[in-house]
Amino acid sequence: MCAVADVPRGEVRPFTVADTPVAVVNTDEGVFAILDMCSHAEVPLSEGEVEDCTLECYMHGSRFDLRTGEPLELPAVAPVPVFPVRITDAQVLVDLDNPLTTATQES
Ligand code: FES
Repeated sequence: MCAVADVPRGEVRPFTVADTPVAVVNTDEGVFAILDMCSHAEVPLSEGEVEDCTLECYMHGSRFDLRTGEPLELPAVAPVPVFPVRITDAQVLVDLDNPLTTATQES
């Protein structure tokens, strides 16, 4: 999908894989992949800020846990799918077929 070096530590970068927008986040706790779409209003999470193991939506400030996709702050209440990541030969491999969470939108 991308090289680990493409995503500096503490930062997030957007990628598209098979028409799926994915935000890859490099943290002190490892590399994470989360659907690049906030569950509150469908804006790209990759434009937000990384803090520890969370990613904050730039629009209204909901912060998502990168391990679970769960929102930690309102206004978002639905989780964002996160995808298993494997690092092989300094490449980030993301398993889009087996998201750890499945909800994408609030109703
Ligand atoms: S669009 Fe992300 S919190 Fe509102």
